[in-house]
Amino acid sequence: MKKTAQKMVVANWKMHGNLKQNQTLLEAYIRTLDNLPHTQVVVCAPYPYLAQLQSLLADTDIAWGAQNIAKMERGAYTGEVSAEMLRDFGSTHVIIGHSERSTAYCESDENIAQKFMVAKKHGLTPILCVGETLIEREAGMQENVVAKQLDTIIRMYGAQVFADAVISYEPIWAIGTGLAATPAQATEMHKFIHDKIAVLDEAAAKRLKILYGGSVNPQNALQLMVVKNCDGGLIGRCSLNAQEFEQICMAAERVSQSDE
Ligand code: PGA
Repeated sequence: MKKTAQKMVVANWKMHGNLKQNQTLLEAYIRTLDNLPHTQVVVCAPYPYLAQLQSLLADTDIAWGAQNIAKMERGAYTGEVSAEMLRDFGSTHVIIGHSERSTAYCESDENIAQKFMVAKKHGLTPILCVGETLIEREAGMQENVVAKQLDTIIRMYGAQVFADAVISYEPIWAIGTGLAATPAQATEMHKFIHDKIAVLDEAAAKRLKILYGGSVNPQNALQLMVVKNCDGGLIGRCSLNAQEFEQICMAAERVSQSDE
């Protein structure tokens, strides 16, 4: 894993794939995306495939992780998977609070905050998803919604925990709909998130990455990657297509190269 990459592109496979398809996809990722000098590529797969990621990606620059984590460290929690277990399979990252989980399984902001901290405690980089619904945006409440999601973590653990973490701004109306946020909407929210952390802890804000997620595709990737305070993307659908994912990563790479 690279320490110095400016941009990060995360593949969120969601509940897709099987051993054979994953192998083909990962081999294609490795051919084109291993050793990008300015972009960290991360693959977040369903739990059963972490061993496969470990064996195929171990000697590459591509990092991997899971899409969820237990808030508890160990114990009688049937069906849960702990931070230590993710580490056992070489994971370095974990998605936390994705709206597809928080909505379907009624995850509270407090639960999400606990997961964020347990990941950090065990040396995993949390990729915290925040974002508003369409109704909330139409009511002009998007910043209040995101502020509330972040405030829970700040209240429980302090703003300094955002150092070396990742926040992904994911407007819920943009996820899987083909309707991405406009660069103007992303610019506004990325600034809001950056400034909110920076007022409380400037050093932490400098070490925080803020990604954009929601219908990123090869056509809109470049315009979203150049958004100020945008450090990369979280990619669902297009990460399942090796060529499309490669084009998105290359857009990130071009932007971070020119930022140098
Ligand atoms: P999508 O998913 O790229 O398919 O919209 C994004 C996400 O899950 O954040």
